[in-house]
Amino acid sequence: MFRRNKSSADEGRPSGLPEDMVVIVDQSVNPYLVLFHEPNGYRSEQVRALRNRLVAMNPDGEPKTLVVTSAVRDEGKTIAALNLAMAMAELERQQVVLVDADMRRPGCERYLNLNPEPGLADVLLGRTTVEKVLRPAGYRQLMLLGPGTRVSNPAEVLSSSRLDELLHRLKERFHYVVIDTPPVLPSTDAGVLAARVDGTLVVVRLERSLKKQTREAVRTLQEMGGNVLGCFVTELRGQDPESDRRLAYETRFGEDGGA
Ligand SMILES: Nc1ncnc2c1ncn2[C@@H]1O[C@H](COP(=O)(O)OP(=O)(O)O)[C@@H](O)[C@H]1O
Ligand SMILES: [Mg+2]
Repeated sequence: MFRRNKSSADEGRPSGLPEDMVVIVDQSVNPYLVLFHEPNGYRSEQVRALRNRLVAMNPDGEPKTLVVTSAVRDEGKTIAALNLAMAMAELERQQVVLVDADMRRPGCERYLNLNPEPGLADVLLGRTTVEKVLRPAGYRQLMLLGPGTRVSNPAEVLSSSRLDELLHRLKERFHYVVIDTPPVLPSTDAGVLAARVDGTLVVVRLERSLKKQTREAVRTLQEMGGNVLGCFVTELRGQDPESDRRLAYETRFGEDGGA
């Protein structure tokens, strides 16, 4: 049994708890980063299934660049890009880099609990080299190229001729380059990037995305020269093990009469 003597300083605290007993549980890792939170769960398996399909589309194992985008903000692009990059990084001998090319509302560093550092913008502006700003993402061998120093003109920075050179360098070093971007409809950034990479995935958040906007985004990407591979659909309610036990495969302790 734990014992602790109450001190006079504890009196009158709203919780009644002594101050040194207040424990803050770090919940800053986003719950939708399923590869991190529930690596054996159904949702992680779904991300791996998508990864496997992408790998199957690349039978020669050539280095590939991949844009993850969606029509508008808050559709889960960054989370989807992170989950996919993490799933890619689980593959043996595959070097993977996640690039945060959303210089308007960057999210990768925040979701990975990393401090902002020089990154993509600095490379595109010729202030540094990519080798100097690549850093571990904190998951397996996954590397991160963050958005870099905030700039007021992301579209101009992205249209730099250094972009092609950068993508070329990344393909020399990595098997998969996963690029998180701003949404398609409010700016041209995603379209510019989609035109320069091997394939583009469009995130659709079923509870939120509007069909009309997603269609328009796909059309815009294609018109700009993007190779749209398919959609990354999230928030499929009714399609998870909590609502349908047949979808659960892992045996939990205590089930099947086991120990
Ligand atoms: N699969 C999901 N289901 C529900 N909410 C999600 C999902 N993926 C992301 N979110 C939430 O949506 C918000 C926006 O996610 P984010 O990936 O930053 O979007 P975007 O990059 O498209 O702006 C975050 O608060 C995140 O927690
Ligand atoms: Mg984002």
